Amino acid sequence: MKYFIKTFGCSQNNADSERIASSFKARGYRKARSYKSADVIVINTCMIRKAAENRVYGLINNLSKLKEQKPSLKIIVTGCMVGMAYRDSTGKYLLRLKKIMPAVDEFMPIDEVGFNHQPVRMDKKTALVPISNGCNNFCTYCVVPFTRGREISRPFQEIIDECQKLKKQGYSEVLLLGQNVNSYGADLVTKGHSIPEMEPVYVKHLGRLRLPTLFPHLLEAVAKFGFKKVDFISSNPWDFSDELIKVIAKYPNITRTLHLPVQSGDNIILKRMNRWYTTAQYLKLVKKIKKAVPKVQFTTDIIVGFCGETDQQYHNTEKLCQQVNFQKAYIAMYSQRPFTAATKVLKDDVPFPVKKRRWMKLDTLVNKYVH
Ligand code: 5AD
Ligand code: SF4
Repeated sequence: MKYFIKTFGCSQNNADSERIASSFKARGYRKARSYKSADVIVINTCMIRKAAENRVYGLINNLSKLKEQKPSLKIIVTGCMVGMAYRDSTGKYLLRLKKIMPAVDEFMPIDEVGFNHQPVRMDKKTALVPISNGCNNFCTYCVVPFTRGREISRPFQEIIDECQKLKKQGYSEVLLLGQNVNSYGADLVTKGHSIPEMEPVYVKHLGRLRLPTLFPHLLEAVAKFGFKKVDFISSNPWDFSDELIKVIAKYPNITRTLHLPVQSGDNIILKRMNRWYTTAQYLKLVKKIKKAVPKVQFTTDIIVGFCGETDQQYHNTEKLCQQVNFQKAYIAMYSQRPFTAATKVLKDDVPFPVKKRRWMKLDTLVNKYVH
């Protein structure tokens, strides 16, 4: 029996697919070279924007034709769409998925695939290591807290053991993954599972101490294994502590390209997005990191055309990009997502041609060296 996995979306989904592959391998399946030669096809879905969702529907539609020719073919859908469906207590979302995709045999929550088997790694050089899953931040545009649920951190020692093994196996790079990677361990600490010799690290935010994270400790422990490179995505500005900056500065094998999503360069829009910083605070953080870590570069995520974004507010984003001089920006046009606060209470009122124009303009401005 052969399996084929198609992955949509982010690195976290790729890491999940590596674990799905391992669970098939453990049951004696082999990897198929294509959809056509597979007995089971797994589609690992993404919902971050409507376009990503539509690509899944398009693929399933094509696969249903394949299934007509080969009725024994099993199609399994997993990932963010299914995560959302199982978290929707009304059950309506799951019914909707079943109706839209009648060719699908099983909707499998990704949570059912544990960490018991060694992932079948797709890259021989860089190993993906999920350290936490889910998000508690509820940025108003973002569907992740609904698809992946609240943040759950993997046990500290489990991650360390995995990295130690990776070093022995000859991997030269590791990429630590989490939706809010630098808040790693907040749930462990509050549940009392903290590591005795490690003080939780807080960031003071808006006059109060933010979450107790363990990320600087974890990053240091992983860096000490001596990998050529230790990278991590995605960080949030509000959990970027001084301790974390110190660890990055101390270990030259920790990445010098930091991914620090800013989302917008306008304070009103940031507030509307429920991002907990002002542009001045973001710039101050960037300055502090640049001072402590020579040769550091920044990449970012930006959304253009968010609800109510005026020309002036968009210009403020251009201005901030010029100030930071990002090495690369992943720019997206705002896309309304189910269950989010923005969908519930704000108007998606920036016309598509305006979103597109802003997207093209910013892409040309920021990513000029990349093309
Ligand atoms: N519309 C457009 N872009 C989005 N992102 C998240 N949600 C949306 C949305 N509804 C972008 C953000 C995030 C990245 C992973 O995807 O920039 O950082
Ligand atoms: Fe989404 Fe915000 Fe969480 Fe990132 S921090 S996953 S943008 S809710």
